[in-house]
Amino acid sequence: MKHLLSAADLTKDQAIQILDTAKELAAATEQGVGKLPPLRGRTVVNLFFEDSTRTRMSFEAAAKRLSADVINFSAKGSSVSKGESLKDTALTLEAMGADAVVIRHNSSGAPHRLANAGWISGGVVNAGDGTHEHPTQALLDAYTMRQHLAGGEGDLKDLNVTIVGDVLHSRVARSNVLLLNTLGAKVRLVAPPTLLPYGVESWGCDVSYDLDDSLEGADAIMMLRVQRERMNAAYFPTAHEYSSRYGLNLSRMNRLAEHAIVMHPGPMNRGMEISADVADSKRSVIVEQVANGVSVRMAVLYLLLGGTESI
Ligand code: CP
Repeated sequence: MKHLLSAADLTKDQAIQILDTAKELAAATEQGVGKLPPLRGRTVVNLFFEDSTRTRMSFEAAAKRLSADVINFSAKGSSVSKGESLKDTALTLEAMGADAVVIRHNSSGAPHRLANAGWISGGVVNAGDGTHEHPTQALLDAYTMRQHLAGGEGDLKDLNVTIVGDVLHSRVARSNVLLLNTLGAKVRLVAPPTLLPYGVESWGCDVSYDLDDSLEGADAIMMLRVQRERMNAAYFPTAHEYSSRYGLNLSRMNRLAEHAIVMHPGPMNRGMEISADVADSKRSVIVEQVANGVSVRMAVLYLLLGGTESI
């Protein structure tokens, strides 16, 4: 595999290979091995046209832990503000010898364009494109679920995963449904009708408008951020009403099975889709998701760049 553009690009075996590699890399990190050598002499460019905290920092940490050279590009403060195109930006990166480009862009499909237009010769990793996909988020979420709910190995067969909230604007939801289906989990999406995309019935998962009916039986519940910055209309009457119908609060959390975990890709709107006491509770694996993101992104870079040295 040269690029990672969509969670749908991954077969079950490839997804499990990434999760297994991430587990090995996490073990090496826990043992205090420090920097690993496989990507010495390689250059990874983080090309971010849209804001990010977790994804950008974890790709940078991942590349550096594998001894790659890292170039961070942010559209803010670059020649993009003078009108430079994606093509000319890409040709500039190619001239600098990028072996892999990690791209986040507000336009759905931008990573595909970069990978397929012939502007660059290196691998392309989609770090979130518009409302389309965020495949490495889905991988780190699957890794986190596997660690807590599936003994840390194999697939996610028959796990029940409930994804709640602003599915319409969520690249995380789409990538998660694709990957969780590949790994054998059963997914239920819960949202108000206004925040479900057209054609969601074809995604291969259950859909419900009722969170209270969807708590029992969930092994993992993933709350999605309400993406106000992508909303150009009123999708729900008030924040209070959204929160009371679709927010995860303590009383709802206490109705989950004892083993169930609470997830959120971040950044969170505390008090909106998730209450602060739930976000900070023992059930919450939100901070752990961030830590797992580094190991998973190390695995993706390692496998894409064809590291030849042993881990
Ligand atoms: N989950 C996620 O993509 O977070 P950032 O926007 O901070 O990268």
